[in-house]
Amino acid sequence: MADTIQTQNSVDQIEFPPLDPPPYHVGIIMDGNGRWAKQNNKSRFEGHKAGTENLRRILRSSVEFGVKMLTIYAFSTENWKRPPFEIMGLMKILENVIDKELDELNRNGVQLRHIGELERLRPVIRDKVLYAIDYTKNNDKLVLNVAFNYGGRDEIVHAVKKVIAEKIPPNEVTEEVLSRHMYTADCPDPDLIIRTSGEFRTSNFLIWQAAYAEYYITPTYWPDFDKGEYYKALQVFNQRDRRYGGRNE
Ligand code: IPE
Ligand code: IPE
Ligand code: MG
Repeated sequence: MADTIQTQNSVDQIEFPPLDPPPYHVGIIMDGNGRWAKQNNKSRFEGHKAGTENLRRILRSSVEFGVKMLTIYAFSTENWKRPPFEIMGLMKILENVIDKELDELNRNGVQLRHIGELERLRPVIRDKVLYAIDYTKNNDKLVLNVAFNYGGRDEIVHAVKKVIAEKIPPNEVTEEVLSRHMYTADCPDPDLIIRTSGEFRTSNFLIWQAAYAEYYITPTYWPDFDKGEYYKALQVFNQRDRRYGGRNE
């Protein structure tokens, strides 16, 4: 354990060469907190706390590497299937992050946003999220989209309902129009989606937006996914040949 922390700290100090170019928008499926906890003889709650701690490192590294937008999957619409005790813990962590980290996030130029359905959250948490969004709205160093109570299919249904409510005629419904009705309305599509802990699935994350995203999957559990691993993911991304269905001669 001590070794792991030491390694992570020393990697944090390393200055990596600039990426040419860094991806603009990175999505992260922060998976593996539970397995990390088990491996380290800790409770799942401690696993989620360690995952949150790691997020600070990845946020710092994102700014350093030149990533401008980060979308993190923190709680999915399917995560309500978990035991109430675990759900409560995850809600508490979100609340604590806003209570304790908001000023530092703000000082570091992070603009917080939320994607997903806020309605189902307790009013006190909902209000804190809305406050944090408003408080950081003028920051421009890094946009952090927090996907909390987010599901890609839910988002598409939500967008279609909005389009219908606005009485947009069917012949005017284009991909562009649907995109503008997603939670991510003013965000460019993600360039790279990272998934930690080795699962090869989207788990309902940005399924509309990631049509042409590059995927990077690592077996490393989220709390151990450090700056060095992150840099490697971005380097691998830089070697990908993105064709978007066309041809690169
Ligand atoms: C990811 O860690 C965090 C959330 C889904 C909230 P998990 O809790 O899914 O960890 P594993 O997949 O069980 O290891
Ligand atoms: C995806 O992880 C959701 C988050 C990281 C918030 P899950 O652990 O919920 O995904 P599955 O169940 O393995 O597909
Ligand atoms: Mg999981």
